[in-house]
Amino acid sequence: MKRTAQIILIVSACCGTFFVTNPAGSAGRAEPKHTMDHWDDPYDCVGCHWERIADWSSSQMSRSYTGDFFQAQFFKYVVKDAARDPAVKDAAADCIGCHAPSAFLSGVLTPPEPALKDNFWNQAWPWPDSYRTAGQLKTGLDDKQLNEPSRQTYRNILPVAKQGADRGVFCDFCHSTVSTSDRQPFNHNYVVDAGPGRNTKRADLEFPWAPYHKTQVSELFESADLCGICHNEQNPFGVWVKATQQEWLETDYAERDIVCQWCHMPPREGKPAKMGPERPWNHAHWFGGGFSGFVEGVARTKLHVPQETVTPGTTVPLEITISDIATGHLFPTGSTEERDVWLRLAVVDVEGHELQHIPVEPNPQDPNDRYFITSNALEAYPSHSDHSDVLARDSLPEGDRIYQDVFLDSNGKVTFGQWYAVRIIGNRLEPGETRVEKYSWQVPRQWAGRAVRLRATLKYRRMADSHATIMGIEKRPHLLVSQDEKVVRIAAR
Ligand code: HEC
Ligand code: HEC
Ligand code: HEC
Ligand code: HEC
Ligand code: HEC
Repeated sequence: MKRTAQIILIVSACCGTFFVTNPAGSAGRAEPKHTMDHWDDPYDCVGCHWERIADWSSSQMSRSYTGDFFQAQFFKYVVKDAARDPAVKDAAADCIGCHAPSAFLSGVLTPPEPALKDNFWNQAWPWPDSYRTAGQLKTGLDDKQLNEPSRQTYRNILPVAKQGADRGVFCDFCHSTVSTSDRQPFNHNYVVDAGPGRNTKRADLEFPWAPYHKTQVSELFESADLCGICHNEQNPFGVWVKATQQEWLETDYAERDIVCQWCHMPPREGKPAKMGPERPWNHAHWFGGGFSGFVEGVARTKLHVPQETVTPGTTVPLEITISDIATGHLFPTGSTEERDVWLRLAVVDVEGHELQHIPVEPNPQDPNDRYFITSNALEAYPSHSDHSDVLARDSLPEGDRIYQDVFLDSNGKVTFGQWYAVRIIGNRLEPGETRVEKYSWQVPRQWAGRAVRLRATLKYRRMADSHATIMGIEKRPHLLVSQDEKVVRIAAR
C-alpha cells in the first residue's frame, strides 16, 4: 500500500515527461525527487554479478555519458544552444534524461565533464573475439589477459568506480525501473522505485533469492517497452528523431514477440549470480549494436550481370539487390542522422584496387533522390545552420547509393543536430524487403579481350568523417556489411 502510494507520487511528480509536455514553459522546474545515492553504483554489483559487469562495461550504454561523441556534442553545441535559443532551452536537460538518467532525476542537469572520454572504439572489454581480430581494440592487455577475463583485467579497463553521471545507463537504473508514465514508451518517461530503504531489483528469473537485495519478477524486462523508454525520442519540434522501438513494432518480430532482448541480450546458460544456481536461461549484457560483430552479414548484397560476355564500348545495364536484412528494425536505426549504410560498385583488379567506379543511376521517381546519392557538397551543419559552420555532407567518394535519414532544420538545411530537426527524409532498409539499384556500365574499349571483376560493396559507419573532425574526435571505421563479385569477359573487338 505504502509503495503504491509512493509510485503514484513519482508518476505525478517525476520530471520524466516534464520537459516534453512543457516545451515552452520554463516556470517552476520540479524539485528533484532523488539524489544520486538513491541508486547503487555499478561497482556494487561486481562481487556477485561479475559476468554482467564485464559485458556491460564493454557496451555503449556504459559510456552513454562519458562517450567522446556525446561529450563533444553536448558541451560544444547543445549546452550553448539551450542557453541561447528559447526554442530548445530544455534540450540539454533532455539529453541527460536518457544519457545519464540518475543525474537527471537528481536534478544534476549539467554534470561535470569526465576525465576519461571513451567510446567502444578506443576503450573496450575484449568481447566478442571478432572485435579484437578486426584490430579495433586498444586495450593495452596481452593475449593471456584478453583470453582469461579476471577481476584484475577488469580493473585495468575500468579503473574508476563510476559514481556520478559517468554511470551512464547502468545496472541499478534499469533494474529499479517499474513502468512508464505514459502508455507509449519515449523520451525517458520511466517511473522508478529508488531511494532510501528501496532495494528491489527487477528482472524475470524464476524464484531468485539474493542476500544483498530484494528481487521481483517484472514483465517490463521481457518487453521492448523498457528499451523504448530511451530508444524512441521526440525532439523539441515534435519530430521523432529516434524510433527504434516503433520501427520494431512494424516488423514481424513484434508479431512473433521477438523482443530487443532476444538479439541484443541473447539468452545463454550459466549462473546469473556467483552464489546462485546454474540456470539454463539468462541474458548476456553487452548490448552489441552498430559494431563489427553485429553489422557484418546483416544484409545480403547480390550483383546481377545479364550476360557473361559483354561488348567493349557498349553500355551494359546492371542491377544490385540488397536483401535478407536481419535487423529487428530499419537498417540503420538509432541515431539515424549519423548512421549510414552505403553501396559502391566498381571494377577491381585482383588486389581489389578500383579500376573503374560505376555510379548509381539517379531515381527520377524520387524528388529527394539527391540526398541518397553520396555527395561532398558543403551543405550539412553540426547544429542549426544559422549558427554553426558548414560541413561536407557525406565525406565519401561521390556517386554511390546511400541509405540514411537526412535531418533538415527550419532553413531546410541538412543538420546533424537532431534537437533542431523539423523534418526528416529517409530511405533506410526494412527487414524483409529487397531493394533494387540500377546501374549503367560503360564498358571501356581498351579492355577488349580481358576478363574483369565487378565488385559491389555494402558498408556501415557510425558518423561522417567531416562531423567527427569538427567534433574533435577520432574518425569511425567503415565496417563491411557484405559484398558480391562477378567476373565478366569483355569480347575481343
Ligand atoms: C551479495 C551478492 C549480490 C550482490 C552484491 C548483488 N546481487 Fe543481484 N542477485 C544475487 C543473487 C544470488 C541473485 C539470484 C540469482 C539466481 O537466483 O539465479 C540475484 C539476482 C538479481 C537479479 C534478478 C532479479 C529477478 O527477479 O530476476 C537482478 C536484476 C539483480 N540481482 C541485480 C543486481 C544489481 C543491479 C546489483 C548491484 C546494484 C546486484 N544485483 C548486486 C546476488 C547479488
Ligand atoms: C538497459 C537496461 C539494463 C542494464 C543497464 C542492465 N540490465 Fe540486467 N537485465 C536487463 C533486462 C531487460 C534483463 C532481462 C532480460 C530478459 O528477460 O529478456 C536483465 C536481466 C538481469 C539479471 C537476471 C539474470 C538474467 O541474465 O536474465 C541480472 C542478475 C542482471 N540483469 C544484472 C545486471 C547487472 C549486474 C547490470 C550491470 C552490470 C545490469 N543487469 C545492467 C536490463 C538491464
Ligand atoms: C535509460 C535509457 C535507456 C534504456 C532504458 C535503454 N537504453 Fe539502450 N542506449 C541508451 C543510450 C543513451 C545509448 C547510447 C549510448 C551512447 O553511445 O552514447 C544506448 C545504446 C544502446 C545500444 C548500442 C547501440 C550502438 O550501436 O551504439 C544498444 C544495442 C542498446 N542501447 C540496446 C538497448 C536495449 C535492448 C534496451 C532494453 C533492454 C535498452 N537499450 C534500454 C539509453 C537507454
Ligand atoms: C532480430 C534481431 C534484432 C531485434 C529484434 C532488434 N535488433 Fe537492434 N540490431 C540488430 C542488428 C543485427 C543490429 C546491427 C545492424 C544495425 O546497425 O542496424 C542492430 C542495431 C541496433 C542499434 C544500433 C543502431 C545503428 O544502426 O547504429 C540499436 C540502438 C538497436 N539495434 C536497438 C534495438 C532495440 C531498442 C530493439 C527493440 C525495440 C532492437 N534493437 C531489436 C538486431 C536486432
Ligand atoms: C529519448 C532518449 C534520448 C535523448 C533525449 C537523447 N538521446 Fe542521444 N541517444 C539515445 C540513444 C538510445 C542512442 C543510441 C542510438 C544509436 O546507437 O544509434 C543515442 C545516441 C547518441 C549519440 C551517438 C553516440 C555514439 O558514440 O555514436 C550521441 C552523440 C547522442 N546520442 C547525443 C545526444 C544529445 C547531445 C542529446 C540531447 C540533445 C541526446 N543525445 C538526447 C537516446 C537519447
